[in-house]
Amino acid sequence: MVIKNIRIVDDTQDFIGDVRVESCKIAEIGHGLHDEEEYDYAGTSCALLPAFTDLHVHFRDPGLTHKEDVVTGSHAAVRGGYTAVNLMPNTKPVCSSLEQAQDVQRRVAATGLIFANQTLSMTKNLEGKDFSHLLPLKKNEILFVTDDGRGVDDDVVMEQIFLICKERHIGIMSHTEKSEYSKVDMRKAENAMTFRDIDLCRKTGGRIHFCHVSTKEAIEAIARAKAEGLEVTCEVTPHHIAATGEEVNHYRVNPPFREKEDVEALIAAMQSGVVDAISTDHAPHTAEDKQNGSPGMTGLELAFSLCYTKLVVPGYLTLSQLVKLMSTTPSAMMKLNKGRVQVGMDADLTIVDTDMKYIVDPKEFASKGKNTPFAGWQLQGRVLHTYRAGKLVF
Ligand code: DOR
Ligand code: ZN
Repeated sequence: MVIKNIRIVDDTQDFIGDVRVESCKIAEIGHGLHDEEEYDYAGTSCALLPAFTDLHVHFRDPGLTHKEDVVTGSHAAVRGGYTAVNLMPNTKPVCSSLEQAQDVQRRVAATGLIFANQTLSMTKNLEGKDFSHLLPLKKNEILFVTDDGRGVDDDVVMEQIFLICKERHIGIMSHTEKSEYSKVDMRKAENAMTFRDIDLCRKTGGRIHFCHVSTKEAIEAIARAKAEGLEVTCEVTPHHIAATGEEVNHYRVNPPFREKEDVEALIAAMQSGVVDAISTDHAPHTAEDKQNGSPGMTGLELAFSLCYTKLVVPGYLTLSQLVKLMSTTPSAMMKLNKGRVQVGMDADLTIVDTDMKYIVDPKEFASKGKNTPFAGWQLQGRVLHTYRAGKLVF
C-alpha cells in the first residue's frame, strides 16, 4: 500500500510526501509513489508518525485481570498509537521468572496487535531483599529488571543488583521512592533515592533508567549525572507535565502530581535533551480500588493528545521532538526495528490528526481502567489509525 500526500514526521524529518509499505516493512519514501492500495491524505491536518513505544506499562496479567488483561491492554495501546510496550512485573504472582515473562509475551503476541517485553522483578515479591533469581540470567537474556511500584530501600542490596546487571547487560528501571519518607514527604522520598542511585551508578560503573521522574531536584540531579558521563537515562510521564497537584485535586498517583516549578523543570529537561522518553505508567484500576486509594491512572489512550496539547500546541516542543521521546528513543532502548519513518524499518506507523479537538470520555477507552483525572478535558491532537508491521490494527 501507499499512504500519500501526508505530513511525514520523525526525529529527523518533517515534510509532505508518500510512504510505500511492502511485506511488513517501510519500502519507499518519496513523492508520486503507487501501489494496489492507496490512501490519500492531501489537504488534511493528518501526520504519519512512527508508532509509539511505551517503556512503562501495567497490564495486570496474570492475577489482576479485573483491572486489565493482555487483550484489553493491547487494544488500549493501539488506540493510543502504540505498537510496543514494556510491561511492569507487579502482577500476581510477581513476575520473577523467564517462564512467566515468556508466557505473557506470547499471549500479547497472540492478539496480533502489539509487541510486548515483560520485565522481571529486581527482588522476589518486590520485597527489596532477595535477588537470587537474577544470578542464573545470561548476558543480554532480558532487557530490564524493576521493582516498579516500590523502591529498593536497602543500599547494599541495590549495589549488588547494579553489579549483577552490569555483568549481564541488563537494564535497571528504578522506581525511586524511599519508603521511610513515603508517609511524610513524597518529594524527599523521590529525591533521596534518585541521589542514592546516582551515587551507586558512579560507584559501580553500572547503568540505570529512572522511571517517572517528577521533581525539579531529581531531574536536575539526573542532568548533572549525564553531564558527568554516567550511564543514566530517564522518562517523564504525560500526566506529570499536563497538570500540577492543585489542578487535578491531588488525584492519587505515585509519584504524586507536583508543583508548577517541577512541571517547568521537566519541560525544560525535555527541551534540552535530558529526558530520554515519555512513558505513560499506564496503571489501570477499578473504580472501587481507586476509591480505596490505589495510586495511578490509565495512560495509553490519552498520552499523545495530552503531550500534543501541553507540549506542542504551546510551542515547547516540535512534533519531531515529541516523536523522538514517544517513539525513536524508547524503541532503540527496547532494541526494536522501529521508531523512524525510514526504509527497512518495520511498518509500525501511526496517523494522527493534529487539529482535531475532543473531550475526554473514559467510557470510550478500550482499557478496563477508566481511572483518569482528565475526564472532561478538551485536548487537541488525536490518534486516528495505527499500523503494526503494515497491518491496520486500529
Ligand atoms: O501510581 C502508580 N501506580 N505508581 C506506580 O509506581 C505503580 C502503579 C501501579 O501499579 O498501580
Ligand atoms: Zn513506578
